[in-house]
Amino acid sequence: MSADDAGRVLGVGIATLDIVNVVAAYPPEDAEVRAAGQRIARGGNVANTLQVLAQLGRPCAWAGVLGTDAAAGRISAAFAADAIDHGHAVRVPGGATPTSYIALSRATGSRTIVHHRDLPELTAADFADVPLEGIAWAHFEGRNPAETARMLARVRDERPGLPISVEIEKPRAGIEALYQGADVLIFARAFVQAADGADAGDPRAFLLHMAALTDARLLLLPWGADGAYGLARGAAEPVFARACPPAVLRDSLGAGDVFNAAVIDGLLAMGLAMGLATGLAADADGLAGLLARANRLAGHKCGQDGLGGLVASARAAGLLPATGRPA
Ligand code: FRU
Repeated sequence: MSADDAGRVLGVGIATLDIVNVVAAYPPEDAEVRAAGQRIARGGNVANTLQVLAQLGRPCAWAGVLGTDAAAGRISAAFAADAIDHGHAVRVPGGATPTSYIALSRATGSRTIVHHRDLPELTAADFADVPLEGIAWAHFEGRNPAETARMLARVRDERPGLPISVEIEKPRAGIEALYQGADVLIFARAFVQAADGADAGDPRAFLLHMAALTDARLLLLPWGADGAYGLARGAAEPVFARACPPAVLRDSLGAGDVFNAAVIDGLLAMGLAMGLATGLAADADGLAGLLARANRLAGHKCGQDGLGGLVASARAAGLLPATGRPA
Protein backbone atom coordinates (compact mmCIF):
# COMPACT_ATOMS: atom_id res chain seq x y z
CA MET A 1 0.00 0.00 0.00
CA SER A 2 1.37 3.40 -0.92
CA ALA A 3 0.91 6.49 1.24
CA ASP A 4 -1.65 7.69 -1.31
CA ASP A 5 -3.81 4.70 -0.51
CA ALA A 6 -4.26 5.61 3.15
CA GLY A 7 -7.82 6.53 3.95
CA ARG A 8 -9.49 5.22 0.82
CA VAL A 9 -13.21 4.90 0.43
CA LEU A 10 -14.16 1.52 -1.01
CA GLY A 11 -17.47 1.49 -2.91
CA VAL A 12 -19.22 -1.75 -3.84
CA GLY A 13 -22.04 -1.64 -6.38
CA ILE A 14 -22.88 -1.56 -10.05
CA ALA A 15 -21.49 0.60 -12.81
CA THR A 16 -23.82 1.41 -15.65
CA LEU A 17 -23.86 3.17 -18.97
CA ASP A 18 -26.31 6.06 -18.71
CA ILE A 19 -27.82 7.27 -21.96
CA VAL A 20 -29.48 10.52 -20.97
CA ASN A 21 -31.94 12.08 -23.38
CA VAL A 22 -32.87 15.61 -22.45
CA VAL A 23 -36.51 16.31 -23.34
CA ALA A 24 -38.47 19.55 -23.00
CA ALA A 25 -41.13 17.71 -21.01
CA TYR A 26 -41.75 14.08 -20.14
CA PRO A 27 -43.52 12.53 -23.16
CA PRO A 28 -46.97 11.00 -23.01
CA GLU A 29 -47.18 7.23 -23.64
CA ASP A 30 -46.95 6.23 -27.30
CA ALA A 31 -45.55 9.62 -28.29
CA GLU A 32 -42.55 10.24 -30.51
CA VAL A 33 -40.46 13.16 -29.39
CA ARG A 34 -37.10 14.58 -30.33
CA ALA A 35 -34.45 14.93 -27.65
CA ALA A 36 -33.08 18.43 -27.12
CA GLY A 37 -29.74 16.91 -26.24
CA GLN A 38 -28.03 13.69 -25.25
CA ARG A 39 -25.16 12.71 -23.00
CA ILE A 40 -23.67 9.31 -22.33
CA ALA A 41 -21.83 8.72 -19.08
CA ARG A 42 -20.82 6.11 -16.56
CA GLY A 43 -23.52 5.83 -13.88
CA GLY A 44 -24.54 3.57 -11.04
CA ASN A 45 -25.19 4.74 -7.50
CA VAL A 46 -21.88 3.79 -5.92
CA ALA A 47 -19.88 4.77 -9.00
CA ASN A 48 -21.53 8.21 -8.88
CA THR A 49 -20.88 8.51 -5.16
CA LEU A 50 -17.21 7.66 -5.66
CA GLN A 51 -16.93 10.22 -8.46
CA VAL A 52 -18.03 12.94 -6.06
CA LEU A 53 -15.86 11.63 -3.21
CA ALA A 54 -12.88 11.75 -5.57
CA GLN A 55 -13.72 15.39 -6.34
CA LEU A 56 -13.84 16.00 -2.59
CA GLY A 57 -10.26 14.74 -2.43
CA ARG A 58 -10.90 11.24 -1.09
CA PRO A 59 -8.88 8.41 -2.63
CA CYS A 60 -11.41 5.88 -3.92
CA ALA A 61 -11.65 2.27 -5.05
CA TRP A 62 -14.58 0.51 -6.71
CA ALA A 63 -15.49 -3.17 -6.56
CA GLY A 64 -18.11 -4.55 -8.90
CA VAL A 65 -18.68 -6.44 -12.13
CA LEU A 66 -17.76 -5.23 -15.60
CA GLY A 67 -18.64 -6.75 -18.95
CA THR A 68 -16.29 -6.88 -21.89
CA ASP A 69 -18.25 -4.83 -24.42
CA ALA A 70 -17.35 -1.36 -25.69
CA ALA A 71 -19.41 0.25 -22.94
CA ALA A 72 -17.32 -1.54 -20.32
CA GLY A 73 -14.22 0.01 -21.88
CA ARG A 74 -15.88 3.39 -21.61
CA ILE A 75 -16.69 2.79 -17.95
CA SER A 76 -13.12 1.70 -17.22
CA ALA A 77 -11.79 4.81 -18.90
CA ALA A 78 -14.14 6.99 -16.83
CA PHE A 79 -12.95 5.34 -13.60
CA ALA A 80 -9.35 5.89 -14.66
CA ALA A 81 -10.05 9.54 -15.54
CA ASP A 82 -11.47 10.07 -12.04
CA ALA A 83 -8.50 8.21 -10.47
CA ILE A 84 -10.89 5.63 -8.98
CA ASP A 85 -9.03 2.36 -8.59
CA HIS A 86 -11.04 -0.43 -10.21
CA GLY A 87 -8.23 -2.94 -10.46
CA HIS A 88 -10.24 -5.53 -8.53
CA ALA A 89 -13.33 -5.34 -10.72
CA VAL A 90 -14.55 -8.74 -11.89
CA ARG A 91 -14.68 -8.97 -15.69
CA VAL A 92 -17.26 -11.35 -17.13
CA PRO A 93 -16.18 -12.57 -20.58
CA GLY A 94 -18.89 -11.70 -23.08
CA GLY A 95 -20.78 -9.78 -20.38
CA ALA A 96 -22.96 -6.84 -21.43
CA THR A 97 -22.85 -3.55 -19.55
CA PRO A 98 -26.01 -2.68 -17.58
CA THR A 99 -27.58 0.26 -19.37
CA SER A 100 -29.98 2.95 -18.20
CA TYR A 101 -32.12 4.77 -20.75
CA ILE A 102 -33.01 8.02 -19.08
CA ALA A 103 -35.47 10.76 -20.02
CA LEU A 104 -34.49 13.96 -18.30
CA SER A 105 -37.29 16.50 -18.29
CA ARG A 106 -36.22 20.13 -18.56
CA ALA A 107 -39.71 21.13 -17.39
CA THR A 108 -39.19 19.58 -13.95
CA GLY A 109 -35.58 18.32 -13.75
CA SER A 110 -36.99 14.84 -13.02
CA ARG A 111 -35.32 11.78 -14.43
CA THR A 112 -37.22 8.71 -15.56
CA ILE A 113 -35.02 5.64 -15.79
CA VAL A 114 -35.55 2.45 -17.76
CA HIS A 115 -32.76 0.16 -16.63
CA HIS A 116 -31.70 -3.01 -18.39
CA ARG A 117 -29.19 -5.46 -16.95
CA ASP A 118 -28.07 -8.91 -17.79
CA LEU A 119 -24.78 -9.14 -15.96
CA PRO A 120 -24.12 -11.24 -12.86
CA GLU A 121 -23.96 -9.44 -9.53
CA LEU A 122 -20.77 -9.34 -7.48
CA THR A 123 -20.65 -12.33 -5.12
CA ALA A 124 -19.15 -12.63 -1.66
CA ALA A 125 -16.59 -15.01 -3.18
CA ASP A 126 -15.57 -12.28 -5.65
CA PHE A 127 -15.42 -9.75 -2.84
CA ALA A 128 -13.09 -12.01 -0.85
CA ASP A 129 -10.33 -11.00 -3.29
CA VAL A 130 -10.82 -7.27 -2.79
CA PRO A 131 -8.15 -6.01 -0.38
CA LEU A 132 -9.33 -4.14 2.71
CA GLU A 133 -5.96 -2.73 3.74
CA GLY A 134 -5.77 1.05 3.64
CA ILE A 135 -9.54 1.44 3.53
CA ALA A 136 -11.04 4.12 5.79
CA TRP A 137 -14.70 3.57 4.84
CA ALA A 138 -16.65 0.86 3.02
CA HIS A 139 -19.89 1.80 1.24
CA PHE A 140 -22.26 -0.75 -0.28
CA GLU A 141 -25.31 -0.63 -2.49
CA GLY A 142 -28.11 -2.61 -0.87
CA ARG A 143 -28.54 -5.16 -3.64
CA ASN A 144 -28.18 -8.92 -3.85
CA PRO A 145 -28.84 -8.98 -0.08
CA ALA A 146 -27.65 -12.46 0.92
CA GLU A 147 -24.30 -12.02 -0.82
CA THR A 148 -23.89 -8.44 0.36
CA ALA A 149 -24.60 -9.50 3.96
CA ARG A 150 -21.68 -11.92 3.65
CA MET A 151 -19.49 -9.10 2.37
CA LEU A 152 -20.40 -6.96 5.38
CA ALA A 153 -19.57 -9.90 7.66
CA ARG A 154 -16.15 -10.21 6.03
CA VAL A 155 -15.43 -6.52 6.56
CA ARG A 156 -16.54 -6.76 10.20
CA ASP A 157 -14.39 -9.82 10.70
CA GLU A 158 -11.21 -8.62 9.00
CA ARG A 159 -11.44 -4.93 9.79
CA PRO A 160 -13.41 -4.51 13.02
CA GLY A 161 -14.11 -0.83 13.55
CA LEU A 162 -14.00 0.09 9.86
CA PRO A 163 -17.09 2.24 9.23
CA ILE A 164 -19.58 0.65 6.85
CA SER A 165 -22.48 2.35 5.13
CA VAL A 166 -25.23 0.67 3.13
CA GLU A 167 -27.71 2.38 0.85
CA ILE A 168 -31.15 0.77 0.94
CA GLU A 169 -32.78 2.09 -2.21
CA LYS A 170 -35.24 -0.50 -3.39
CA PRO A 171 -37.45 -3.06 -1.62
CA ARG A 172 -35.62 -6.20 -2.76
CA ALA A 173 -36.42 -9.72 -1.50
CA GLY A 174 -34.37 -10.41 1.63
CA ILE A 175 -33.25 -6.79 2.05
CA GLU A 176 -33.68 -7.15 5.85
CA ALA A 177 -30.43 -9.14 5.81
CA LEU A 178 -28.70 -5.76 5.41
CA TYR A 179 -30.32 -4.14 8.44
CA GLN A 180 -27.58 -5.67 10.60
CA GLY A 181 -23.86 -5.11 10.25
CA ALA A 182 -23.61 -1.53 8.96
CA ASP A 183 -22.82 1.61 10.96
CA VAL A 184 -24.80 3.88 8.69
CA LEU A 185 -27.93 2.93 6.77
CA ILE A 186 -29.09 5.39 4.13
CA PHE A 187 -32.67 4.78 3.01
CA ALA A 188 -34.16 6.17 -0.18
CA ARG A 189 -37.52 7.90 -0.26
CA ALA A 190 -38.64 5.39 -2.89
CA PHE A 191 -37.91 2.55 -0.45
CA VAL A 192 -39.97 4.13 2.31
CA GLN A 193 -42.82 4.91 -0.03
CA ALA A 194 -42.85 1.35 -1.31
CA ALA A 195 -42.99 0.03 2.27
CA ASP A 196 -46.31 -1.34 3.45
CA GLY A 197 -47.95 0.28 6.38
CA ALA A 198 -48.49 3.58 8.05
CA ASP A 199 -44.83 4.65 8.01
CA ALA A 200 -44.73 4.86 4.22
CA GLY A 201 -45.45 8.58 4.02
CA ASP A 202 -43.92 9.58 7.33
CA PRO A 203 -40.12 9.84 7.39
CA ARG A 204 -39.87 10.38 11.15
CA ALA A 205 -42.08 7.41 11.99
CA PHE A 206 -40.18 5.29 9.49
CA LEU A 207 -36.82 6.07 11.09
CA LEU A 208 -38.06 5.48 14.63
CA HIS A 209 -39.61 2.18 13.55
CA MET A 210 -36.48 1.16 11.66
CA ALA A 211 -34.20 1.95 14.61
CA ALA A 212 -35.71 -1.02 16.43
CA LEU A 213 -34.93 -3.36 13.52
CA THR A 214 -31.27 -2.56 13.00
CA ASP A 215 -28.01 -2.32 14.90
CA ALA A 216 -26.86 0.61 12.72
CA ARG A 217 -25.68 3.62 14.66
CA LEU A 218 -26.97 6.21 12.27
CA LEU A 219 -30.02 6.08 10.01
CA LEU A 220 -30.40 8.64 7.25
CA LEU A 221 -33.33 9.41 5.02
CA PRO A 222 -32.86 11.98 2.26
CA TRP A 223 -36.38 13.12 1.32
CA GLY A 224 -35.62 14.85 -1.97
CA ALA A 225 -37.02 18.33 -2.41
CA ASP A 226 -38.50 18.09 1.10
CA GLY A 227 -35.20 17.90 2.99
CA ALA A 228 -33.44 15.09 4.84
CA TYR A 229 -33.82 13.28 8.16
CA GLY A 230 -31.27 11.56 10.38
CA LEU A 231 -31.60 9.49 13.53
CA ALA A 232 -28.59 8.57 15.67
CA ARG A 233 -28.86 5.53 17.93
CA GLY A 234 -29.78 6.69 21.39
CA ALA A 235 -31.47 9.89 20.22
CA ALA A 236 -35.18 10.21 20.95
CA GLU A 237 -36.14 12.09 17.79
CA PRO A 238 -34.90 12.38 14.21
CA VAL A 239 -33.08 15.54 13.17
CA PHE A 240 -34.34 17.38 10.07
CA ALA A 241 -32.50 19.62 7.61
CA ARG A 242 -34.32 21.51 4.88
CA ALA A 243 -33.53 21.02 1.22
CA CYS A 244 -31.44 23.53 -0.74
CA PRO A 245 -32.96 23.58 -4.21
CA PRO A 246 -31.05 25.34 -6.98
CA ALA A 247 -32.34 28.54 -8.58
CA VAL A 248 -33.12 26.56 -11.72
CA LEU A 249 -33.80 22.83 -11.55
CA ARG A 250 -31.99 21.09 -14.42
CA ASP A 251 -31.02 17.51 -13.61
CA SER A 252 -31.83 15.44 -10.54
CA LEU A 253 -30.10 12.29 -11.86
CA GLY A 254 -27.74 11.03 -9.17
CA ALA A 255 -28.68 13.66 -6.57
CA GLY A 256 -29.11 10.90 -3.96
CA ASP A 257 -25.67 9.54 -4.82
CA VAL A 258 -24.22 13.02 -4.26
CA PHE A 259 -25.98 13.20 -0.86
CA ASN A 260 -24.34 9.89 0.09
CA ALA A 261 -20.90 11.14 -0.94
CA ALA A 262 -21.30 14.28 1.14
CA VAL A 263 -22.37 12.22 4.15
CA ILE A 264 -19.39 9.87 3.93
CA ASP A 265 -16.99 12.75 3.40
CA GLY A 266 -18.59 14.72 6.21
CA LEU A 267 -18.42 11.89 8.72
CA LEU A 268 -14.80 11.19 7.85
CA ALA A 269 -14.00 14.90 8.12
CA MET A 270 -15.78 15.26 11.44
CA GLY A 271 -13.63 12.46 12.79
CA LEU A 272 -16.82 10.85 14.00
CA ALA A 273 -16.50 7.76 11.92
CA MET A 274 -15.50 5.69 14.92
CA GLY A 275 -17.80 7.36 17.40
CA LEU A 276 -21.03 7.69 15.49
CA ALA A 277 -23.25 6.60 18.34
CA THR A 278 -21.85 8.72 21.09
CA GLY A 279 -20.86 11.58 18.79
CA LEU A 280 -24.01 12.19 16.85
CA ALA A 281 -26.61 11.14 19.41
CA ALA A 282 -25.13 13.68 21.79
CA ASP A 283 -24.70 16.31 19.11
CA ALA A 284 -27.89 16.97 17.19
CA ASP A 285 -26.28 20.13 15.78
CA GLY A 286 -23.48 18.01 14.34
CA LEU A 287 -26.00 15.75 12.64
CA ALA A 288 -28.03 18.73 11.41
CA GLY A 289 -24.83 20.24 10.00
CA LEU A 290 -23.94 16.97 8.27
CA LEU A 291 -27.40 16.78 6.67
CA ALA A 292 -27.38 20.46 5.72
CA ARG A 293 -24.05 20.13 3.93
CA ALA A 294 -25.24 17.02 2.10
CA ASN A 295 -28.44 18.84 1.08
CA ARG A 296 -26.43 21.80 -0.18
CA LEU A 297 -24.26 19.63 -2.41
CA ALA A 298 -27.17 17.47 -3.62
CA GLY A 299 -29.27 20.57 -4.30
CA HIS A 300 -26.41 22.20 -6.19
CA LYS A 301 -26.14 19.07 -8.30
CA CYS A 302 -29.79 19.47 -9.38
CA GLY A 303 -28.86 22.83 -10.89
CA GLN A 304 -26.21 21.39 -13.21
CA ASP A 305 -26.04 18.68 -15.84
CA GLY A 306 -24.16 15.56 -14.76
CA LEU A 307 -21.54 15.31 -12.04
CA GLY A 308 -18.52 16.82 -13.77
CA GLY A 309 -16.88 19.66 -11.82
CA LEU A 310 -19.62 19.52 -9.18
CA VAL A 311 -17.46 20.06 -6.12
CA ALA A 312 -15.41 22.84 -7.71
CA SER A 313 -18.54 24.74 -8.68
CA ALA A 314 -20.12 24.18 -5.25
CA ARG A 315 -16.95 25.55 -3.64
CA ALA A 316 -16.96 28.53 -5.99
CA ALA A 317 -20.57 29.18 -4.97
CA GLY A 318 -19.53 29.12 -1.29
CA LEU A 319 -21.67 26.05 -0.59
CA LEU A 320 -18.93 23.86 0.85
CA PRO A 321 -17.23 25.64 3.70
CA ALA A 322 -14.35 23.85 5.36
CA THR A 323 -15.39 20.93 7.52
CA GLY A 324 -12.46 20.78 9.85
CA ARG A 325 -10.42 18.59 7.54
CA PRO A 326 -7.17 20.08 6.29
CA ALA A 327 -7.73 21.38 2.74
C1 FRU B 1 -28.58 7.40 -10.56
C2 FRU B 1 -28.19 6.04 -11.10
C3 FRU B 1 -27.84 6.10 -12.55
C4 FRU B 1 -28.02 4.67 -12.94
C5 FRU B 1 -29.21 4.24 -12.12
C6 FRU B 1 -29.06 2.83 -11.62
O1 FRU B 1 -28.77 7.32 -9.17
O2 FRU B 1 -27.12 5.49 -10.37
O3 FRU B 1 -26.55 6.60 -12.80
O4 FRU B 1 -28.26 4.48 -14.27
O5 FRU B 1 -29.29 5.13 -11.03
O6 FRU B 1 -30.17 2.42 -10.88
